[in-house]
Amino acid sequence: MKPHSPANPAQLSQYAFPSKPKNYAPEPVPSLEEWQKLWTAWELVTLKMIPKEALHEKPIPLRNPLIFYLGHIPTFEDIHLARATREPPTEPGYYQRIFERGIDPDVDDPTNCHDHSETPDTWPELHAILGYREKVCKRITALYDSGRAWSDRTIGRALWIGFEHEGLHLETFLWMSILSPNVLPPPIPRPDFVSMAEKAARERVENKWFNIAPRTFSIGIDDPEDDTKGNGFFAWDNERGPYDVSAHGFEAQARPVSIGEYATYLVKTSQTDRIPLSWTRRDAGSAYCSDEIVSNGSHGDDVDVDVDVQKFIDGLTIKTVFGPVPLNLALDWPVYISYNDATAYADWEGARIPTLHEARSIHRQVEEEKIAADDEIRNKTLTPGVSREDIYIDLTGCNVGFQNFHPTPVTQNGNRLCGQSDMGGAYEWTSSLFEPQPGFKPMDIYPGYSGELITSDSFIDCVCIVH
Ligand SMILES: [Fe+2]
Repeated sequence: MKPHSPANPAQLSQYAFPSKPKNYAPEPVPSLEEWQKLWTAWELVTLKMIPKEALHEKPIPLRNPLIFYLGHIPTFEDIHLARATREPPTEPGYYQRIFERGIDPDVDDPTNCHDHSETPDTWPELHAILGYREKVCKRITALYDSGRAWSDRTIGRALWIGFEHEGLHLETFLWMSILSPNVLPPPIPRPDFVSMAEKAARERVENKWFNIAPRTFSIGIDDPEDDTKGNGFFAWDNERGPYDVSAHGFEAQARPVSIGEYATYLVKTSQTDRIPLSWTRRDAGSAYCSDEIVSNGSHGDDVDVDVDVQKFIDGLTIKTVFGPVPLNLALDWPVYISYNDATAYADWEGARIPTLHEARSIHRQVEEEKIAADDEIRNKTLTPGVSREDIYIDLTGCNVGFQNFHPTPVTQNGNRLCGQSDMGGAYEWTSSLFEPQPGFKPMDIYPGYSGELITSDSFIDCVCIVH
């Protein structure tokens, strides 16, 4: 089967969310139109991109099966709406006992697990869960019809937390789906991974180092969680502040480590048995996908790919929602690896992973440079304002919000410093533990969000290095 469309990472999917702050964060309370777009994406990912029979799989063994999340999203929202409106929960009320909170134990010691909802012997039937969800969606819609979504800040906060929570889980659900052998592609043209790889190889440039200036700046959103006054943006407990940070000067490499670089590292350090979770070994002689595999020429002239590395790469595919793609076609994508693997790679490079404050300083520098280069926004300051563009940045060109359903190349960006969310569709690791910032206080309406702090390497993100 031939790919249906030319590779064009800039071509937006019909599910793409807006990239400009004025469009993706126009008001603290999401609009009904934003909800409807989110529901469309949620239904796509949970009902069309995974077969119903596969919903009882546990792609991450330490977590609940996929079907839990279909009940968790409306239940979480309903808990907050019932609290905010002081009205009864949507029936069946017992969903709150089984769907309120998922499981996310310490991967090194799964017996170390926070409080979570009881696990039933049998999960409710899908049609029952979907019927419940429909009632919760109607409950949300009614709050907009009556105007209470806008007039009552407590209700607005409940809507905001449910909206962001659903968006967060879109990501976790997609990641789990990719780990399932039964993931289905979205109903869009299949990307032309061959052309994309060839273009990326042509555009590959050296990954340069950049000086990051010392700077003092503030982190966090001022949200006192007092809904009797104010009209500012809401924040999760770990996003609150603001607090001042002084970051020293250091050097940072322009863009994330690529799959090609990481594969080379695994060969050179004799660790080919430690492949990332999203890679799969090919059986000899088997066909894995419809894409034509690009020959050695795709690597370009700037990378010395020796025979052993090439052989290793040729024996691997990477998991995507479109099915396995030859790793050879993904060499320019950011690599998704665990924290321990990321630190080992950085050590090997004679570098390290940035701290949280260093990473934020890099982001800040990129935003400052954008302002300096743009006449229109030069007079804007990075101090908090009504629109909060100091926090909600312009994400144009970033592979986020369903611009694509796959990672996109980053190796063309080696000659410029990549900023926040500009990682080809990956998160970035920092070396800072997830722990309370100055003045941390658990959320009144959701004390468990960051109140129980677990550090682990169960997340998979990309790595940028500094020194
Ligand atoms: Fe959740």
